[in-house]
Amino acid sequence: MRGSTRRSLAVLLAVVAFMASALTATAAVGTVSAAARANTARAANPDRPANAAVPKRHVVAYDRYSLKVDGERVMLWTGEFHYFRLPSPDLWRDALEKIRAAGFNGVSLYFHWGYHSPKPGVYDFTGVRDVDRLLRVADELGLYVVARPGPYINAESTGGGFPAWLKNVPGRARSSAPGYTAAYRDWLSHINPIIARHQVTRGGSVIVYNAENEYAANTDAAYMQDIQNKARADGIDVPITHNQCCDASWTPTWASGQGAVQIPGVDDYPQSFNCDTPGIWGTWGPGVTERLRDDAPVYAAEYQAGSVDVNSAGFDKCRELTGPDYMKVFYKSNLIASGATMYGYYMAFGGTNWGWLAQPNDVGTSYDYGAAITEHRQLTTKYDEFKRQGYFVTSVAPLTRTDPSTAPVSDNAAVHTEARANPDTGTQFVLVRHADRSTSTDESATLTWTTPDGTYRVPVRVKGRDAEILVAGYDLGGQRLAWSNSEILTHAHIGGKDVAVLYGGAGTAGATVLRYPSAPKVKVLDGSVRSSYAAGELRLDYTHAGLARVLISDGGRRPLLLMLGTDESAASFWRAGTSAAPVLVRGTSLVRSARATGNAVELRADLAEAGDVEVFGPASSRRLVVDGRAVPARVTPSGSLLGRAAGPRPVRLPDLTGWRTRTEAPEAQPGFDDSRWTVADKTTTESPIKPKNQPVLYADDYGYHYGHVWYRGRFTATGAETSVALNAVTGKHGIYQAWLNGRYLGSAAGGVQADTDDPVNPDPGRGDFPIPAGLLKKGEKATLSVLVGNMGHNDDWVATDIRHKQPRGLTGAAIAGARGLISWRIQGAEGGEDVADRARGPLNNGGLFGERAGWYLPGRTGGPWAAASPAGRRLAPGVSWYRTTFRLDLPKGQDVPVALRFGGAEDARYRVLLFVNGWNLGQYIPGRPQRDFALPAGLLRERGHNTLALAVVAEQSATVGPVSLVAMANHRGGVLVAPVPAPER
Ligand code: GAL
Repeated sequence: MRGSTRRSLAVLLAVVAFMASALTATAAVGTVSAAARANTARAANPDRPANAAVPKRHVVAYDRYSLKVDGERVMLWTGEFHYFRLPSPDLWRDALEKIRAAGFNGVSLYFHWGYHSPKPGVYDFTGVRDVDRLLRVADELGLYVVARPGPYINAESTGGGFPAWLKNVPGRARSSAPGYTAAYRDWLSHINPIIARHQVTRGGSVIVYNAENEYAANTDAAYMQDIQNKARADGIDVPITHNQCCDASWTPTWASGQGAVQIPGVDDYPQSFNCDTPGIWGTWGPGVTERLRDDAPVYAAEYQAGSVDVNSAGFDKCRELTGPDYMKVFYKSNLIASGATMYGYYMAFGGTNWGWLAQPNDVGTSYDYGAAITEHRQLTTKYDEFKRQGYFVTSVAPLTRTDPSTAPVSDNAAVHTEARANPDTGTQFVLVRHADRSTSTDESATLTWTTPDGTYRVPVRVKGRDAEILVAGYDLGGQRLAWSNSEILTHAHIGGKDVAVLYGGAGTAGATVLRYPSAPKVKVLDGSVRSSYAAGELRLDYTHAGLARVLISDGGRRPLLLMLGTDESAASFWRAGTSAAPVLVRGTSLVRSARATGNAVELRADLAEAGDVEVFGPASSRRLVVDGRAVPARVTPSGSLLGRAAGPRPVRLPDLTGWRTRTEAPEAQPGFDDSRWTVADKTTTESPIKPKNQPVLYADDYGYHYGHVWYRGRFTATGAETSVALNAVTGKHGIYQAWLNGRYLGSAAGGVQADTDDPVNPDPGRGDFPIPAGLLKKGEKATLSVLVGNMGHNDDWVATDIRHKQPRGLTGAAIAGARGLISWRIQGAEGGEDVADRARGPLNNGGLFGERAGWYLPGRTGGPWAAASPAGRRLAPGVSWYRTTFRLDLPKGQDVPVALRFGGAEDARYRVLLFVNGWNLGQYIPGRPQRDFALPAGLLRERGHNTLALAVVAEQSATVGPVSLVAMANHRGGVLVAPVPAPER
């Protein structure tokens, strides 16, 4: 990301906006009417079960309030997920099921151009890149998809999603320049048809299409328009959106004129990315999504749900910065202030920058993001808050069409109210929060609230950093809710009665008023609830504690089971659709799906431990089956089924022993045969950054785009050489190392950003290496060997080329005292752009000798390795490898996310590339926040033999580790994960 640059660019953008406003043309405006005919509704209902075999076609339309599918309004509540950060297709289902179970009815998906394309014209959509499969899973789960294929996506991913070969394409990226145009059209020609066949209009799940990404700097309206024309030509017929950066002050917003989209959205990151100060709120504003068009819904395209860790505070701090209290205050405030009905929470699950996927200036291997679902696929208290809000917004349909309305009057100035109402039903939604968002005092107030059912005095309380949305005048199933000062979690018609769950802060007073034509029977089944009936109104008073249950019957309406809980007990509920009514479940750590058959309810559920499982299902339910095993169960007075399900078996992971080692870097030796390396003699480059001296040594210019590159420079010595001066640009945290005639000269930090004339750092990545006396002899050939790490490519957030076309590798080389030219050769990943290991793809490998020789692969050791464990063994500077194997035998039907943990000194000067069964699962750098590296099942064989290979690049003599396997969790349940096919040798 851009961190601090985000705000400082506002001025620049104002100028750009002014220029853009001079360009006017007609926009593609209007309602999309899909080619397809309306069919069975498949829309607002959050309980849509898996799609039937025959795809149904639907009409997608919208108005100023919301999207509509077959005329039915949709609250689009999505979480962002990056398939490229979870390289195990079976685990896509795990992540998407968890996203759905949190109450999301959709998922926002970036598609990463560079992940699929190693070379111009070459695309791969197989294996871990099989996005058709990803969209099939979304279809099966009934999740709507916001498809975001860029071409530029940012996402803190290498090149912001651009393939690195684009650095060699003439013409500014993100513009109408012909070279770039041909390139991005080719990408869209590949990805659009895949997206198109999964549109809702063709029976799939893609409901909108996002053109470009935060395109606000140096914009080119013809380009923006062309992306959309291309999408239409490729069969995209759902509405097109865009995600405007930051807020609507950034222009153009693409709401009108050439390049305008139908549903312009806005990104909002109100908390900033300062994870080191999680207590400071709203650094980047109040986070209220602006309306950009009168004829389209308000769309919170990316709303902050985690953070980049720009200050290296660790992702747990980011989770705190964007924790449940922030979510309550900002998400609920935004819902009421903006009336948005389309949301994308960034991120729901962040994942892993495996291989060289990271954009190195903002992130390392982990893209955990402090998200609701951790990198190790675990659910957090943020997940609970998503559930509370997601179940609410997808259950209470009147929220899909609201206008601002008169808010109840608070008798305490410290308590702020704000309201919206549905013009058709009159249902009111009232936000209650501190007037000053940053305070956390305990405030009580009485609201004078004029609802559709009368005027009431309603007690409320805001305790700590908190916000509530209260509802009045709502036809809750067959009931009439006059008002409640408890919030609604969800409700459904289950087993012949309405079942509703309301909740409030533990210890606070709750009151709910329901209307009945005649006095109903009220039976308190659990907890302490007082009731009174007068003048058609049943009033219930209680304190939010545990989970109270009240059965209300007769009174002229169908029965209601009302459950009144706390934040915690509300979050213990799971709601899952079946082919008939939904079920509600308590007691499990997750419910993935449910089926009601005859008198049985079958759950696919996860359990962290043995415990009670309670199911509110069809009245006929007598049998409970959890993960295929019958659970003895009885019917409770609430009409639910209660049984006790088993937990997981304990697991123990093996110690890592039997290590073998091998030292490499023959490239550093003068006699090494480099005759098959690429001659580096170019004199020009497409990069706007020009080299300090000739020739151009940029790795990308020779087709070596990812990981390490080696250089060998030959020259005839004068004997008077005194020092070597190098510059290398690597991206943040990168290093490079130099050898002269086999003698190690040392290492230096690589540059981050070589601007053409950057006053702050005019000489990026500079390293000066004195030449030891006597090393070079007059008239003799000498060899300078340089190993440069490439940490990944910069983004192109400002669309200038100055960032993403930054060089990688050497940008300058001079030897003081030398005469004559150095002749250079370069070597990178095996095959260059013709990637040798196609299954693992272009981002898996660089050009270390051991990588080129296949030492990272399970079946290719290439010669003798010596027995030696990393512990207690000092490595010389340079490159060494360790390998070992281990067997796992994790119990079937359990989900045990495994990580590789590095211990050891923080100040050690080495880094490790870790390969599991040939997959590059990241880079450990001592002193950086990350010590645990996710080893996703599918790449890791949970029941089988595994090979671990560590490539250690040491700047100084160092001891690696200790290294161990850790179980990050243990659940009964999970999804079936097949090994991801990839060559062993
Ligand atoms: C947004 C951008 C995303 C990501 C995010 C920060 O502005 O669109 O791709 O970079 O910021 O994580």
